[in-house]
Amino acid sequence: MDLFKKSPDLSKLSYAQIEDIAKKCALCDLAKTRNKVVFGNGPVPCDLMLIGEGPGADEDEQGLPFVGRAGQLLTKIFESVGIDRNKEVYIANTVKCRPPENRTPKDEETKACFPYLEAQIRIVAPKIILLAGAPACKVILGNEEPMSKIRGKWFKYKDTDISIMPVFHPSYLLRSPSKEKGAPKWLTWQDMIEVKNALDCVKKVKELEK
Ligand code: URA
Ligand code: URA
Repeated sequence: MDLFKKSPDLSKLSYAQIEDIAKKCALCDLAKTRNKVVFGNGPVPCDLMLIGEGPGADEDEQGLPFVGRAGQLLTKIFESVGIDRNKEVYIANTVKCRPPENRTPKDEETKACFPYLEAQIRIVAPKIILLAGAPACKVILGNEEPMSKIRGKWFKYKDTDISIMPVFHPSYLLRSPSKEKGAPKWLTWQDMIEVKNALDCVKKVKELEK
């Protein structure tokens, strides 16, 4: 297969063209150990986008984001506030290929992969982006503060009017099962209620603009 070893200019390409390029990407070493490229999944365009960390074993096998245990929890989290994950959320990751042993992606890997994520944000054109976990916060906001400090707060994406909220990563929530008030799961539920309200506002404004 003809692998891409140099960053191509993605700025004028369509979603399908960019996905095609990503599937042949060899810009970082993750290409050597991946099974499938996990580009992203969901409606395009889409008002709500979620950016995770990187594919795990199940995602690497199926070529789809958040389909393993963390993904099942993510689906339930959205369901709990009345958001249909399949119809209302576009999902991507900071890296499109699985890091070996599910280690955190390296800076050189997220940097190599960033043009794809940037192109996805351009074409998906979300109004709200959720950043699940520390790597997504670092890549998109340049923010390396602890998740416990920044989750649930609203940020803006660069100089756009896209609203961004960091949220705990579902894998972290799997390791913190308590649903007590103040626990990570409870906090995430509060965050998601706020996200659902923001999404409803976006939809109302669109209706009024028709
Ligand atoms: N964890 C992630 O960050 N992304 C996935 O796609 C799956 C698990
Ligand atoms: N630490 C992380 O890296 N991610 C979380 O979601 C929570 C704590």
